[in-house]
Amino acid sequence: MRLELIQINNFRNLEQVTIRPAAGINLLVGKNAQGKTNFLEALYVLAHGTSFRTVRDSDLVCDQKDTYEIKVVYQKEGRLVQSTLHYASTKGKVLRINNKRSTFSHPDRLRMVLFTPDDLYIVKGSPHLRRSFLDLILCQVSNEYAQYLNNYSKILKKRNLFLKTKHVNQEVEFLTRDMLIENAVPLIMGRINLVEWLEKEIHSLYRKITGGNSKIKLRYALSFTINKDRASRESVSAALRQALDEKQESEMRRGTTLVGPHRDDLNIYIDDRNARTHASQGEQRSLAVVLKAAEMTTIKNIRGIAPIFLLDEVMAELDQTRRTLLLEHLSSSDSQSFLTTVERDVIVTKQAGVFNVTNGKLFEEA
Ligand SMILES: Nc1ncnc2c1ncn2[C@@H]1O[C@H](COP(=O)(O)OP(=O)(O)OP(=O)(O)O)[C@@H](O)[C@H]1O
Ligand SMILES: [Mg+2]
Repeated sequence: MRLELIQINNFRNLEQVTIRPAAGINLLVGKNAQGKTNFLEALYVLAHGTSFRTVRDSDLVCDQKDTYEIKVVYQKEGRLVQSTLHYASTKGKVLRINNKRSTFSHPDRLRMVLFTPDDLYIVKGSPHLRRSFLDLILCQVSNEYAQYLNNYSKILKKRNLFLKTKHVNQEVEFLTRDMLIENAVPLIMGRINLVEWLEKEIHSLYRKITGGNSKIKLRYALSFTINKDRASRESVSAALRQALDEKQESEMRRGTTLVGPHRDDLNIYIDDRNARTHASQGEQRSLAVVLKAAEMTTIKNIRGIAPIFLLDEVMAELDQTRRTLLLEHLSSSDSQSFLTTVERDVIVTKQAGVFNVTNGKLFEEA
């Protein structure tokens, strides 16, 4: 998947932007508050329909204006696709793919992976961010997984309400427990398989972008004990049932479900030390980038199409070696990428596009 033309009108401070990006790396260089992140945000909104910075569409319209439009032309499997998102404060958003009104689940839609400085929290933040990271990948590659996740969340909410209000009798408890387990098992198995796959990918990618020989280990940490070396559907189901049995009293007392995929975690180790508590800032940032790069590869391998990589301020906190190696990795991959940076000193290859961002305008460097 490769963007060939990008036109943005009245999106935040980007009043009028037209660029033809390079096939590989595109560097957006500019001082603070010039519109670099706004540019990535516009592409992200066109792909997903929602922003990563706000839930209000009206925030995205340029001050004093009523409408914005983002229009792109991209290559997908040898075909050219045109996608336009038009927003009007009176009418809301309308997405068109090849001039036909469309939805954000259209098979020809844009696919993007975004790295923001907040992704550091996947490594150092609370477990729900790591679970969301796994779920986000799995939902993109499997509609079935998304359905199980949706069911599980609904059942969990209902069950917790029963537990909280103490309106629970044995029969209801058994019923919700069965449904909970039924939907929990595919989530856990999906995540365990993904983590096994990610570990190999991340281990080699981490070495590649750091130039070192650290050993990266990823472990899916269940919130309950399982007496088997290798988890299977049957063993996970039996162990979760047993854990729920054992926790029944404390769950009633505390009014919430204490075990299940909503309480699991992903442990990340660098040379056998937990990265959440032991890694340096630069190591955590390198890991966060690599996790996102692995998300790119997963989607590419399963969907057969390389998504577009948006990286906001990824270079900050990385030393010169890591910056160079990361850029080398990005230019050797077959994905198109857009990186923002405040410093021009990063080395880019010949095929790269460099755009200077000043006061909402983009100027291509000759
Ligand atoms: N709806 C809007 N209309 C006009 N300007 C806006 C709107 N929303 C945000 N802005 C302005 O856009 C400017 C650029 O924001 P952006 O986040 O893209 O900066 P940046 O270039 O990424 O800077 P930094 O290097 O600090 O991250 C900000 O000064 C902000 O005030
Ligand atoms: Mg920014």
